[in-house]
Amino acid sequence: MLVVIEQDYGALSREAARIAANALRQKPDLVLGLATGSTPVGFYRELAKLHREQGLDFSRVVTFNLDEYIGLDSSHPHSFHVFMQENFFRHVNVKPENIHIPDGTIRGDFDEYCEGYERSIRDAGGIDLQILGIGKDGHIGFNEPTSSLASRTRPKTLTRETLEANRSHFGKEERQPRAAITMGIGTILDAKKILLLGSGAEKARAVALAVEGPITASVSASALQLHRDATVLVDREAAVGLKHREYYETVVAMTRELTPERLW
Ligand code: GLP
Repeated sequence: MLVVIEQDYGALSREAARIAANALRQKPDLVLGLATGSTPVGFYRELAKLHREQGLDFSRVVTFNLDEYIGLDSSHPHSFHVFMQENFFRHVNVKPENIHIPDGTIRGDFDEYCEGYERSIRDAGGIDLQILGIGKDGHIGFNEPTSSLASRTRPKTLTRETLEANRSHFGKEERQPRAAITMGIGTILDAKKILLLGSGAEKARAVALAVEGPITASVSASALQLHRDATVLVDREAAVGLKHREYYETVVAMTRELTPERLW
């Protein structure tokens, strides 16, 4: 696992966009795994800027989002469909037919639907670069604590902590979905490269547990320790719980010198 510590949220967003843009320039038909939440918003803004100012081309990109709330249709203002449209898709030239986000309106045969989602990822050649945020309890996607490290796309009941963390997105009178369809940890680990973004002091504990704690189903993000090409990109505030900060900075400096392609 490569740990990259940036000064602040702006620098983190620019670095994440640089990594994704380089991947896209090397492979114009890049398969991108995408995340929602407030953390990747700056990253999406930077990618949109590269599209606008430098013509970064998304016309052959295929995207797969991690998750969607069960019960919200794709036009619901709090759906991840609308979130992605507003924060990213409408600012770049991704083709609508290349966008995949789990359908929150599925009823009944979830297994068949979720297997189909997994199949579409496989048919696209697998995810080249998976972007992740991290929940305060260390979840990735909506893989709440105790999710199997081998889990695949499936419906998942949300914990009280996650419901509370996302409560402010919903109006007072509005019903908040209590479950979601999410890619599993096994699905995420199949990606060729993973980039986890963590920003702010409230993520410091989760980041420390994910990077330096034991690999455990209690902290889903700790499964990234099993991945051969995972980068954890955090700002200073999110890095305060890391014991080996100085070492990570030395590793990044050395990597920049010896194998810069590892940092894209
Ligand atoms: C939700 C999403 C995750 C995201 C997490 C943290 O639970 N399903 O993908 O990483 O929230 O969100 P934020 O970046 O807003 O802190």
